[in-house]
Amino acid sequence: MCGTCGAHGRAESPRGEGTRIVVVGKGGVGKSTLSALLARQMGRRGLRVVAVDADEQRNLAATLGLDLEAMASIVPVAEDADYIEEKTGARPGEGAGGMLRLNPDTSDLVDRLSVAAPDGVRLVVMGGVLRAGGGCLCPETALVAAAVAGMHLQEDDVVVMDTHAGVEHFGRALARGFDTAIVVVEPTFNAVQVGVDSARMAAELGIGTLHLAINRSRSGDDVERVLAYVDRLGGFTFSSVTTLPFDDVVLEYEPAVDHLLDGSSLAEAMVGLANGVLAPGRHPAGSVA
Ligand SMILES: Nc1ncnc2c1ncn2[C@@H]1O[C@H](COP(=O)(O)OP(=O)(O)OP(=O)(O)O)[C@@H](O)[C@H]1O
Ligand SMILES: [Mg+2]
Repeated sequence: MCGTCGAHGRAESPRGEGTRIVVVGKGGVGKSTLSALLARQMGRRGLRVVAVDADEQRNLAATLGLDLEAMASIVPVAEDADYIEEKTGARPGEGAGGMLRLNPDTSDLVDRLSVAAPDGVRLVVMGGVLRAGGGCLCPETALVAAAVAGMHLQEDDVVVMDTHAGVEHFGRALARGFDTAIVVVEPTFNAVQVGVDSARMAAELGIGTLHLAINRSRSGDDVERVLAYVDRLGGFTFSSVTTLPFDDVVLEYEPAVDHLLDGSSLAEAMVGLANGVLAPGRHPAGSVA
């Protein structure tokens, strides 16, 4: 059996509720592009999708297709002082004190802090707190750490979280409680190294289903190269391996994915990835297309 694609089949969320997907990988490999495409494809098929931007670069809004006016209306979770105080008992800048609630009830987060994106997707932007030092116990870090894990999901709910490049965010346990990771690589050794590191850290966090997405592939040789790199790095068994082609149309319309959704080679390949990510029984429309 291939050591990279273990043909695990599709895993159900361990809690029998919605699906929480974190998208990880080296800088520039296509995390935001794939997150946005996935979110909008899933929104189009009737799933209730929350896209979470956990990268302080905040690229996801534009990639999802929000215009500048809509982007200006976004209040990042880490900058909403009133919400932070209400939930944690302390305002940003006040430090931990003795009153900080570390597990606030954030089940109203999407209703109160999300903005509308196309195809019914709701977008939550975490904000710059992610630059804070590891182990920081300031109120905004406490809130952000609890925010996604505290969302109450129904069966047809999907969270797609785009992350900062690399593995640093794992130290902040942002993906705590997630069931699925999409590890994005491009056909270079360095990207695969970060991808394998990310996969191992995701597995250590308890994320049970890990999919490998080989983005910007130009030929079968690229796929072989990536799989050989994975082996050279000690191997990792992914639940699925999906090849996503380099597509000039992406660059023509970047950053927004609007024009990719209908008919681009990248979007077509993403359908296979989305079908692999979603468990049977969560496909109201039968397929993502
Ligand atoms: N399959 C593809 N074909 C062609 N261009 C692509 C493809 N996927 C992504 N791109 C382009 O690659 C660039 C980087 O993509 P993206 O911003 O999604 O990466 P990222 O991993 O989110 O980066 P960062 O680590 O900075 O957040 C963008 O210009 C995007 O349009
Ligand atoms: Mg990005």
